[in-house]
Formats: sequence, C-alpha cells, structure tokens
Amino acid sequence: MIGENMDSSRVLVTGGAGFIGSSLVEQLLKNGSKVVIIDNLSRGKLDNLSEVSNYSVEGGNLRILVGDCCDPELLEQAYSEFGGFDSIHHLAAINGTKWFDEIPTEIIELSIDSTRILIDYARLCDSKFVFYSSPEAYGENPNQPLGVQSNSVFSNPQTHQRHSYGASKYLCEVLVQSACKSGLRAAIVRPFNVYGERLPGGQYGQVVSIFLHLIKNKEDLIVHGNGGQSRSFTYIDDIVSGLISIEKAEPANGFAKAYNLGSASEITILELAKLCIDVTDSGKSIEIIHGDGYNGDSASRLAEFGEYEREIDWIAPTSLRDGLSKVWSSISGN
Ligand SMILES: NC(=O)c1ccc[n+]([C@@H]2O[C@H](COP(=O)([O-])OP(=O)(O)OC[C@H]3O[C@@H](n4cnc5c(N)ncnc54)[C@H](O)[C@@H]3O)[C@@H](O)[C@H]2O)c1
Repeated sequence: MIGENMDSSRVLVTGGAGFIGSSLVEQLLKNGSKVVIIDNLSRGKLDNLSEVSNYSVEGGNLRILVGDCCDPELLEQAYSEFGGFDSIHHLAAINGTKWFDEIPTEIIELSIDSTRILIDYARLCDSKFVFYSSPEAYGENPNQPLGVQSNSVFSNPQTHQRHSYGASKYLCEVLVQSACKSGLRAAIVRPFNVYGERLPGGQYGQVVSIFLHLIKNKEDLIVHGNGGQSRSFTYIDDIVSGLISIEKAEPANGFAKAYNLGSASEITILELAKLCIDVTDSGKSIEIIHGDGYNGDSASRLAEFGEYEREIDWIAPTSLRDGLSKVWSSISGN
C-alpha cells in the first residue's frame, strides 16, 4: 500500500544497473517512485538489481530496458512505460580510470552524445534533468577544496589522454548550463570517490574495491607512486541520501546548481592501503608495493562544503573505517 509520505514520481535512470545507479534505483523504489532503467550492461549487472527484482513484475514500479541510452526506439519505449518522466538521472558513462587513457574516443563520444541527446529528451518530456558529472571535471586543479568557484585545469593532451573523462564531463556541464538558459530545469552532481559493496574491483575497477579484492585473494596492494595523492572517499548510502534530496529539490531558474557530494575527511592512498589492511586484519600476510601511477592523477581531491550542500542539509556521516568494514563483510562473506 502506498503510504501518505510515499512519492509517486516517474524517474528514468540511465546506467541504473551500475554501482551508483542501482543503489539510487533501490531507494527511489522504496520511496514509491516508478522507475525505468536504460543500461547496456557494459559494466552494470542485473545482479545489482536483485534486491528490487520484485518491483519489476507486471504491474510493478520498475522497468529494465537493456540497450544504449541514445537509442531513439528505446527512449520512446521508456516514455510509454509510465507515460513520461518527472525527472531523468543521467548516469550512463564509461567509468574506471584505466579506460580513460586507453579508449578516449569512446569515453568522449558516449559522454557528449548521450548528454546532448538526453537533454533534448528531457525537454521533450518536460522533465527535470540530473547530470552525473565528477570531480575529475576539475582536472588537476591544485587549489583545494573544490567548490562552486573552482576552475578546471587540464594538462596538454599530447602527453596523455586521461582527461577524456574529466574534460568531457566538464563539456557536458557546459551543455547543461547552456540548456538551462533556455529553460531546462536541471541539477549537476559531482560524487567524490564513492565506494560501496557493488563497486567494481579488478584492473578496470576503483581503488577501494581493488584493494579489498586483492586482500581477499591474498595478493599484495600496489599503490601508485609514493601513494601521497589524497582523496575524500564517500560511502554509497551517504551519496544516495544526497541524491534523493537533490531529486526532491526545486531546480534553480536559468542555471543548474552543481552539488559536490564528498566526505569532509581526506586520506592519502598509502594511508587507505594501510587502513584496508587494518580493517581486514590482514597485516601479517599482505604487503604494500609501490608501482607506476596514472598520468594526470590529481594530487588531492577534497570537496568544499558549500551553500548548495547546506540547502539540502547533506552530510556524509559514515566514517571511512565503518564503511570499509561494511564493504569487507560483503566481499569476504563474514
Ligand atoms: N563511482 C564514483 O565514485 C563516481 C564519481 C564521480 C562520478 N561518477 C559518475 O556517476 C555515474 C555512475 O558511476 P558508477 O560508479 O555507478 O559507474 P558504473 O560503471 O557502475 O555505472 C555506469 C553504468 O552505465 C552503463 N552504461 C555505459 N554505457 C552505456 C550506454 N551507452 N547506454 C546505457 N548504459 C550504459 C554501464 O553498464 C553501467 O551500468 C557515472 O556517470 C560516473 O561518471 C561516479
């Protein structure tokens, strides 16, 4: 039964079978929203949606469309599922740092083309548009913390193409801000190094999950360079609570508010490796090795807690130690 506080909004989530998308979808469904997912399952998995599979039965509130989020037929089908959308969360992108320098053309193409197409689609559907950018959109800006007034700093593309990801996110923000001038209602989200149970590990994964999976396999941890680069890691449940507040917030007129969702504490990658070893109690068997890093890695990435985050009353209460323990229980099965 739908209670009084339940939300009956209709939401399209591109990339909804991915790490962040699937957690967002779960919460939207719990809140009473009707959700359509478009995901080509290139990195996402239907398993990520197993906890909400009961919503996808006939007459339920979830529809999963497998395919490209730029496919016009799929977008038409998505529209017809619940008769349009109140909001569109555009998460589909190629994530995983190792890809950024390896397949820059694909990264840029998907990022720019899909955002342009989905902005037009949001206009047609008269929907609010929530674009998932990244702190990588600031490039290698050495001035921290990163806030609304911070600039983007990118290195020479002749040396490496890692910024295919961050620079294309930057350009997508330009597309969104420009569309807002002609009436689009939109918000921009920049999640700061999110980690959680479904974060992919392996060589194309992200650092927290890479470390914890290496520990599970009793392999040593490789930190890039001296490991002195720092990040603010943010637990997935804290991110989702921010996303739900952004979903409910009224967009600004004429521009998109950009929310930097990042925990207030910063830690170096070397310290993170040590903490992972400590949390998993594997100090006797695992060593830390120093290896080559990625080109264009920023030395630091800390979110500024600003006006927009205050407006939605957002904080990230989960400590890194507690968050890592939760993820480790899930990975190790203990
Ligand atoms: N995880 C983070 O820490 C983080 C930080 C900053 C920004 N972001 C952004 O948040 C969004 C979600 O990130 P994530 O970590 O959940 O990544 P993810 O890779 O788990 O999710 C992206 C999803 O998009 C899907 N996808 C890729 N190409 C597609 C296409 N052409 N059509 C349809 N679906 C497609 C993938 O299968 C995947 O399920 C991305 O836009 C990412 O850039 C994530």
